[in-house]
Amino acid sequence: MKVILCPVSEVEEGRPVSVNPEGLPALAVYRIGEEYFVTDNLCTHGNAMLTDGYQEGEVIECPFHGGSFNIRSGKPSAYPCTDPLTVYRVIIEDGQIAIEAP
Ligand code: FES
Repeated sequence: MKVILCPVSEVEEGRPVSVNPEGLPALAVYRIGEEYFVTDNLCTHGNAMLTDGYQEGEVIECPFHGGSFNIRSGKPSAYPCTDPLTVYRVIIEDGQIAIEAP
C-alpha cells in the first residue's frame, strides 16, 4: 500500500520534514540534490527526533549526543549510534512524496 507523506515542494535540502502517518512510526523526509529519502525519525540511540538535528549532505546528525546516520543507507556514521535506521522506498508521483508501506 502506498502512503502519501507530503508535497515535494515542502522539502528543502538541509531542512528535513517530520511526518506522522497513521499506523506508521514517525518519519523524516529529506532532500539531497534532486533526490528524496525517507527514514524513521526516531534516533536508534535514544528519544530524539532526527528532524530536530542537522543535515549535512547525505548525513543526518542527531540533536542529542552527536551521533549520525547516512540518509541513503540508514547506516550509523558516528558514535554513539550503532543500530541502523529504517529507510523506506520513496515514490514520487504528482508532486507528492510517498512510500511503499512496510
Ligand atoms: S539519541 Fe541520537 S545520538 Fe543519542
